[in-house]
Amino acid sequence: MITVLFGGSRPEGNTAHLTKAAIAGYDYEWIDLTQYQLNPVRDVRHDNKVIESYNDDYKEIIDKVLASETIIIASPVYWYSLSASVKAFFDHWSETLMDPNYKNFKEEMAKKDFRLIIVGGDFPKVKGKPCITQVKYSLEFIGATLSGYIIGTAEKPGDIEKDVYALKRAQEWQQTLGQK
Ligand SMILES: Cc1cc2nc3c(=O)[nH]c(=O)nc-3n(C[C@H](O)[C@H](O)[C@H](O)COP(=O)(O)O)c2cc1C
Repeated sequence: MITVLFGGSRPEGNTAHLTKAAIAGYDYEWIDLTQYQLNPVRDVRHDNKVIESYNDDYKEIIDKVLASETIIIASPVYWYSLSASVKAFFDHWSETLMDPNYKNFKEEMAKKDFRLIIVGGDFPKVKGKPCITQVKYSLEFIGATLSGYIIGTAEKPGDIEKDVYALKRAQEWQQTLGQK
């Protein structure tokens, strides 16, 4: 099963279009992170206490991720970073790493095929590179690896059609998704 963690604010925008080109023909679940409540993480790691619940939707989403073989993180570049919704989701991994109910979190995440798609309008192949490194290091911290990424260049809706290289890469993914 493929799960898309979508962090864009335009459901029919460039990021969505490029991502759908990569998963065409597959069954997938599309999780629009902007439609979920992800409360700010509190760092209590050194206070000898645990936060039992954030009263938000994080656990519902992480359980779906853990039940998937392939996870595609899809985000526009916002201020030279991943979108805030994607980052809010990552922040909660710190909570899961300490949660006794998720003892095998790292082992499970290590088995997954993680991919990343980002789209930006301001030379993202150069200026968006920190997003790739950010995801790579974040995944490594939880025992996982980033198997591949695509950087799309687009500003207005529909612009991505002109990025034939990114679209071709997305089509190539159709051959390799779910093979880990
Ligand atoms: C709040 C905001 C911040 C943005 N910041 C950047 C940026 O730092 N770098 C960039 O390349 N594009 C930036 N953009 C442009 C978007 O990444 C671009 O329009 C992209 O196509 C949006 O994806 P979408 O069509 O899926 O919404 C920004 C757009 C918005 C709305």
